[in-house]
Amino acid sequence: MTTEETRWARGAYRGYDVRLPAEPDLELTQVDAGTPGGEYHRRFWFPVALASQLGKFPVPIRILGEDLVVFRDGEGRVGLVHKACAHRRASLEFGRIEQRGIRCCYHGWHFDVDGTILETPGEPESSNVRHSICQPAYPTREVKGLIFAYMGPPDQVPEFPYLDSFDLPDHELIPYSIHSPCNWLQETENAIDPFHSVFLHGRVNGPQFPGLEHFVELPVVNYVQRDGAIVYSHARRVGDLVMLRFHDYLMPNLAQNGGMFQKFEQPRFFGRTSLTKWVVPIDNTNSRKFGWRHFNNKDEVLRLGNRDDVGWEKVDFYGQTAHRSMEKRQSDPGDWDVWVSQGPIAIHSREYLGKTDEGIAMLRRKLRRDIRAVARGEKIAQVGGTAQNPYPTYGGDTVLRVAKSNDDEGLMKALQKQVAEIYFAHDHLKGEERSAKIKAALGDAFPDSKT
Ligand code: FES
Ligand SMILES: [Fe+2]
Repeated sequence: MTTEETRWARGAYRGYDVRLPAEPDLELTQVDAGTPGGEYHRRFWFPVALASQLGKFPVPIRILGEDLVVFRDGEGRVGLVHKACAHRRASLEFGRIEQRGIRCCYHGWHFDVDGTILETPGEPESSNVRHSICQPAYPTREVKGLIFAYMGPPDQVPEFPYLDSFDLPDHELIPYSIHSPCNWLQETENAIDPFHSVFLHGRVNGPQFPGLEHFVELPVVNYVQRDGAIVYSHARRVGDLVMLRFHDYLMPNLAQNGGMFQKFEQPRFFGRTSLTKWVVPIDNTNSRKFGWRHFNNKDEVLRLGNRDDVGWEKVDFYGQTAHRSMEKRQSDPGDWDVWVSQGPIAIHSREYLGKTDEGIAMLRRKLRRDIRAVARGEKIAQVGGTAQNPYPTYGGDTVLRVAKSNDDEGLMKALQKQVAEIYFAHDHLKGEERSAKIKAALGDAFPDSKT
């Protein structure tokens, strides 16, 4: 065969012949009520609004394919109810917020934040309707500027996922939220793919994140599966330093990573996260990230963060929103551009997963197992905690001084496992004590890295 014929046989210039499968993986991507994925998502607490959105008028939102309004009543309580009024389905976005609950503008029905009817003013006193039905409502919880909701069966409310990272000393948490016109899983998968940083944020477009220039090196990656979570790390060598970046991935859509605006010039132990973020499904083809940007001088060595650039539809690092010109997006694409470009719902059967997609494949398997477990009526593992007893997380950076070995890849893998074990061994401790003991144990294990 000629070279031309060989290439043609492999598929070169054969675009015409390709007939791509059209169906998305509905089991993993659908979120509507009554679908397997929708039921799965309805087993978790997650953010649905920023507290700063709540003001004089009810705020219409869409979550898991349901149209809702969220509001804060005169007593300061947050209500989350179906947008369509139980009476004749006028929109409660035109309702009046009362001292207690909300009143529909159309015929004055008055609902408490839990959906119970307080008043049906046009109905006769003898009417029983206010005792026999409710406006559909969900429980909420407000934490540090985010409004969380639980939209699942009322008899299966899980423990709230209160993480240690909510209360790190010296961390200032600024809430933010950004829309993506695509299925929730696409942005979520970006968070478990450390290899995209090498190319998107480095080799292809040039460095996009100050201080993370060495991310152009392919990392050695280690994944640890735990109940309701995947803890993964990636390691790279810079001279005699090995930088280990740990990430938390908590099912189904919560991620924490290492520090922004870093500089890796000396060893460092157990740095903490710069982001805590949930990718919340709006519906099957839209999602909205809610989270906190952590500001802390110790974990952000270069101090390039900007609090003023964090909030509604904005965050202070590169390429995270739609709000750039197409020319800018094409000349220097960011994370947002790529996960949205995968389509309204990425069709997995059209992909060719490779070595760089180990985390993606692991996440999809775990997700599918859990979705099927919920469908069978089983309880699934999920993280929970309280302010007094928070769930320990690991997102952040440790930098060690370790001489290069002949099998440096093997060494970096072993270092990640060793550091992860040291982290996990202190799960029973809390706050400053946990942090101090982890740092002391790392100092004992790596005396050359003590600063
Ligand atoms: S439609 Fe809401 S009170 Fe009639
Ligand atoms: Fe990225």
